Amino acid sequence: MTDTYKNYIDGEWVTARSGETFESVEPADTDRVLGQFQRSTEEDAQRAIEAANEAQEQWQSLSRIDRAAYIEEVFKILEQRTDELGELVSRECGKELSEGKADVVEAIHMLQYAFGNARQPTGEVVESEIPAKDSYVHRQPAGVVASITPWNFPIAIPIWLIAIPLIEGNTVVWKPAEQTPKCAVKLMEVFDEAGIPDGVINMITGYGEDSGAPLVSSNDVDSVLFTGSAKVGQMIQKDVAVQGDKQCACEMGGKNAIIVTEDADMDIAVHSAIMSAYKTTGQRCVSAERVLVHEDVIDEFQQRFVSAAEKINYGHPVEDDVFMGPLVDDAQVEKTKEWNQRVRDLDAAEVLVDRETDIGEEHADGRFVGPFAYRIEYDDDIDVLHEEVFGPHVAIMPYSDLDEAIEIHNSVEYGLAMAICTEDYRKARRARQDCEVGLGYVNLPSIGAEVHLPFGGVKKSGSGIASGKDIIRAVTHRKAWTVNNEKDIEMAQGLSADIFRGSDE
Ligand code: NAI
Ligand code: MG
Repeated sequence: MTDTYKNYIDGEWVTARSGETFESVEPADTDRVLGQFQRSTEEDAQRAIEAANEAQEQWQSLSRIDRAAYIEEVFKILEQRTDELGELVSRECGKELSEGKADVVEAIHMLQYAFGNARQPTGEVVESEIPAKDSYVHRQPAGVVASITPWNFPIAIPIWLIAIPLIEGNTVVWKPAEQTPKCAVKLMEVFDEAGIPDGVINMITGYGEDSGAPLVSSNDVDSVLFTGSAKVGQMIQKDVAVQGDKQCACEMGGKNAIIVTEDADMDIAVHSAIMSAYKTTGQRCVSAERVLVHEDVIDEFQQRFVSAAEKINYGHPVEDDVFMGPLVDDAQVEKTKEWNQRVRDLDAAEVLVDRETDIGEEHADGRFVGPFAYRIEYDDDIDVLHEEVFGPHVAIMPYSDLDEAIEIHNSVEYGLAMAICTEDYRKARRARQDCEVGLGYVNLPSIGAEVHLPFGGVKKSGSGIASGKDIIRAVTHRKAWTVNNEKDIEMAQGLSADIFRGSDE
């Protein structure tokens, strides 16, 4: 028997009202069960929202700096538990050990950023047109924030979407991904140990429609923060738009690209492309599934890329020397294999690397799908060149000049991350000016964001305010506040303030 873990509501560990649970297993070895978790429904969501609402006023009445002191406590405890939680991330989400640990370290950096930032001003003083008036902009918390998070960064993304909302004076209901509930419970233990007041942070485990959707539709939730698929994100944006009184920030995926120019350093280009395509088994929102290579150098690039992809070591994420682990769940396996098959069936595609099932017998119980790469001429009508696969699947495409590369780059509905490998600063600058993305890199992979930089995309990739300082915009509202320091009322724009004009007074 494995352990059963509970929801965290109002400072208590509680079971779901449904009485039902679901299981979490290691994707690298599905016989290994990590625990049973509460299958929460609307009733549990309501309980959590109530607790958050009740706690909000008191929490808001603390100073920003006092609220940040609790976040600093979370930081201290998480720092001590980095290795333990890093290994859990590797086991539950399937990322190799250095990545599992990096997930926790990213969360630690975000906590540091959040509590350090609490001593920075958030408002602004604005000069009034009237010398006697002082105007300033004041920020107030939205109220109750619902944070709905994905499995691919099961510690870091939740911290992005919890720490800053809390410091700004909101209380939070968190719905973690159903694939990584144990990481969520362990993270809640850290908040509990840090002594955060009851109801300030609440967590319910379960599936999206059962327990995420009720948070989005609730009248008592004031802001929704979401990271995940474009399909669900767009649904949330629509729901929130018609409710009128709710804010939301949604970060979705990408169909990211690396551009390799004719003058590129090939070592850098191949290294960057392999990292972007296969790190995290292609399951990052910033992973690259398209590599656009100048026709003069594509044969050399291809030969070196293929030789590297053939050598990549994939296996159980906690084993030594593993570059990539399994995919997270059966749906990801099915989806990736389906797209691979569609490419094999295309006359236009030349499959270059196909290690889909190239894994030893000892890993038969894991959700392993190996590296896949193909060469193809860009064609608007081929859907796999537009759709996000979210697996170790990459198209290598030739182009003849930078205009064409940029046109192909921008032909997708997404716009999250890109990289250009070039020795020509003019070409790099062109990419910065004309590629439709939120994150760009030169002579680097398209992955590897740091927490103090903005993170987010354009187009279908989202609203561009998922992280760092920017998320303040989604969890506060601003008040423009003007004070008159004279007895006379004087209006801007030359508007008359004389209410007795034309009378005998
Ligand atoms: P998803 O978008 O369904 O799930 C993300 C979160 O939203 C989870 O916590 C889930 O329970 C919740 N959710 C699902 N349906 C919901 C609803 N109706 N209302 C409220 N919350 C809901 O993503 P999923 O199923 O894990 O992966 C599907 C695809 O999404 C992937 O193959 C990938 O293409 C993309 N994805 C992108 C991510 C990114 O980093 N931008 C992360 C995870 C997935
Ligand atoms: Mg889903």
